[in-house]
Amino acid sequence: MEVYRRVWDFLDYNPVLKYAAVGTVSIVSVVALRRWLGGGVCSSQVRLQGKTVLITGANTGIGKETARELAQRGARVVMGCRDVSRAEQAALEIRVSTGNQEVVVRQLDLSSLSSVRNFTTEFLATETHLHILVNNAGVMMCPRMVTEDGFELQLAVNHLGHFLLTNQLLDLLQSSAPSRVITVSSIAHKGGKIHFKDLHFEQTTYDPLLSYQQSKLANILFTRELARRTKGTGVSCFCLHPGVVRTELGRYVETRWPLASTLLSLPAWLLMKSPWQGAQTTLHCCLSPGLEACSGCYFR
Ligand SMILES: *[C@@H]1O[C@H](CO)[C@@H](O)[C@H](O)[C@H]1NC(C)=O
Repeated sequence: MEVYRRVWDFLDYNPVLKYAAVGTVSIVSVVALRRWLGGGVCSSQVRLQGKTVLITGANTGIGKETARELAQRGARVVMGCRDVSRAEQAALEIRVSTGNQEVVVRQLDLSSLSSVRNFTTEFLATETHLHILVNNAGVMMCPRMVTEDGFELQLAVNHLGHFLLTNQLLDLLQSSAPSRVITVSSIAHKGGKIHFKDLHFEQTTYDPLLSYQQSKLANILFTRELARRTKGTGVSCFCLHPGVVRTELGRYVETRWPLASTLLSLPAWLLMKSPWQGAQTTLHCCLSPGLEACSGCYFR
């Protein structure tokens, strides 16, 4: 206590030093808090030379950081993206930052079954292997929209498109085994339910949150059933909650509540994960050795 009092007295005589000390302690605390909230980091040293990975929605956010890390480890990375020109920019950036030229973009619109089929037809015709499939693309809490197939958009993109994609590629995943299917879900699945009688909210009032929760629960149920069906084939399946991450996923939330979003942007910056931090759970599922016994598990 004596030392503490002397330091304090000393600082009292030196106001500049005092404010500098208070400022430094605050900054260090904020940095430490952000790092702690940032969560775990994938520590696997696994390299991926000769491996092929496919990531949906890889042009931004968590998907882009996942693509960058897997490219860094030497994989051939196929980015399945709706907006090809934006994806080409991201691919270029990843090629430059990793020195890996095997980063390619293929057009994939998960809201369209026809687009998924066209994508997988080309993929199967041009790729000889698929070791890691990352079902990452998603939309969150958008207004009610109906796809060309007559599906509500969140269920269509977050679940149905990925369901078809994975099933179309399952033979290739099995012939490439050991292989993994990783599906990015969300903690939003909690409290969600599958509205079996009205999956697309045609009879009941559409609620963007209920639909989002349903689609994220579907990701988890899909992973569990896929794990059951692929048991013993060398394909392992995982799903995960990445944390609360600053990405474009919040675009519909921002347009719905613009004032709240602006007011909350500073606390959001403080409390939300960066896309790199947000990619760590996905990377753990892609890379950590020995997870096979846990096929069907949910990570967070
Ligand atoms: C899929 O391919 C067919 C045949 O090439 C084409 O007519 C159709 O427009 C494609 N669909 C999409 C959504 O790209």
